[in-house]
Amino acid sequence: MSLSALPRHVAIIMDGNGRWAKKNAFSVMLGHRKGVEALRDIIRYSSDAGIQVLSLYAFSTENWTRPEAEVKALMGLIVEFFTSEIEELHRNKVKIRILGDVEALPDKARAAVISAMDTTKDNGGLQLNIALNYGARDEILRAVKSLAMKSADQLLQPQDITWADFAQELYTKDQPDVDLLIRTSGEQRLSNFLLCQSAYAELLFPETLWPEFTVSLYKDALATYQRRERRFGGRT
Ligand code: IPE
Ligand code: IPE
Ligand code: MG
Repeated sequence: MSLSALPRHVAIIMDGNGRWAKKNAFSVMLGHRKGVEALRDIIRYSSDAGIQVLSLYAFSTENWTRPEAEVKALMGLIVEFFTSEIEELHRNKVKIRILGDVEALPDKARAAVISAMDTTKDNGGLQLNIALNYGARDEILRAVKSLAMKSADQLLQPQDITWADFAQELYTKDQPDVDLLIRTSGEQRLSNFLLCQSAYAELLFPETLWPEFTVSLYKDALATYQRRERRFGGRT
């Protein structure tokens, strides 16, 4: 059997930090910290392997409902990540885009992510999307509102709106759809992640908790993807 090409766009729901911490009798915070370490390796490998787009779910619009101390700690980790990693990411030509409402982030986190996007804006390597304060329903609603405004302003006719017009209003504008979506920790749900972009994505649900997700497991996931037959509704 011949293997298909590597996915152009990989999306990952990095889940299981809390359970990993509990299993090892560590604080949730340490779980998130270990999660960031795992993420570094996956970004590096994706960049080296020539993946075009990598989307990582870091914080959902629903994660604000977690205990205040955890939210605060997560925001702190985000600032730390962008501060400590930006040099290497920039050197490797990684281009950062935030998916989600940046305006609603705490000041320091907002400043850190805006600076990271700005520093890397002209890079042509791996497109790294970090979903932060992201929810697909929120994204869809924004797109609908923007199209409604454009049509109210007579910039387009409602009956002429195409999927391409809609896709241009999403945070992932100008990027290919998700080919492979991985969710670690064994949970088999999408939790409001990239619902439009994953319409024909191949889904993988490895049991591994995110802090234990290694490059070797990532390579296994990519190989599994390459053995899948994608049909997109047609007959091959
Ligand atoms: C995912 O790990 C990371 C974030 C949501 C930020 P969790 O914290 O959801 O881990 P579990 O699901 O409790 O194990
Ligand atoms: C999804 O995981 C969000 C991130 C990984 C950032 P959650 O742990 O928040 O999702 P649910 O609550 O299990 O659906
Ligand atoms: Mg979880």
